[in-house]
Amino acid sequence: MTRRKYVVGNWKMNGLTAMLGEAKAIFAAAETHTSVDVALCPPFTLIGAMAAAAPGAAVGGQDCHASASGAFTGSVAARMLADAGARLVIVGHSERREGFGESDADVCAKAEAALAAGLSVILCVGEPRAVRESGGAIAYVLAQIAGSLPGEFDPARLAVAYEPIWAIGTGLVPTVADVADMHGAIRAKLNEQAGAGAASAMRLLYGGSVNGDNAAELLGAGDVDGALVGGASLTAAKFVPIVEAAASL
Ligand code: PGA
Repeated sequence: MTRRKYVVGNWKMNGLTAMLGEAKAIFAAAETHTSVDVALCPPFTLIGAMAAAAPGAAVGGQDCHASASGAFTGSVAARMLADAGARLVIVGHSERREGFGESDADVCAKAEAALAAGLSVILCVGEPRAVRESGGAIAYVLAQIAGSLPGEFDPARLAVAYEPIWAIGTGLVPTVADVADMHGAIRAKLNEQAGAGAASAMRLLYGGSVNGDNAAELLGAGDVDGALVGGASLTAAKFVPIVEAAASL
């Protein structure tokens, strides 16, 4: 099974309409690299404008509510994202799991809601520093997968992003061998939990301090199909080299 490379930018709580020019430049450059799927996940407020500014581009949300509608002040449902022009959504980012107390069951419910709304999903997992240092990273991440992976899904529409928490926004990255070990363990777990067909079709992204200098090495690691990029996704100058690295593999 050949899996297309997938490079996704997570703008987090950054971006005003003045930044739409960066998104347009990123998507224009991405079009020239036909072997790579590129997506950007801006804040909710920019989804509609970004989708309109870059017709055909994959624009996504960074979170969604598990319910379809209701009395959830401040929240946004998956089908609202789709209605605004989103094609995908990130669920279970560590900044949501840690900062907003989201459990594996919450993340699973969000992923199911997003799939039901027709969105693709990037489901994030990753261990804190103390767990990595104690040698428990793989067991920790596999338990997150056990608890947050939906029961039934289209593997073409669900990617898993491994993002060690200690590598996010810190400039620290695991060794290529550690990334390959983790991704291999994740794929074996998916094989056990979702079946061989799904496991071989699903894309596994690495995230955490990916930049133009380290992207080729990290994306070249075994079982890595792409990257989820935070800080380096905010400008075309920083993000396009990562897309180019993916295209070169
Ligand atoms: P970073 O963030 O690239 O800034 O480390 C990655 C992420 O949180 O998705």
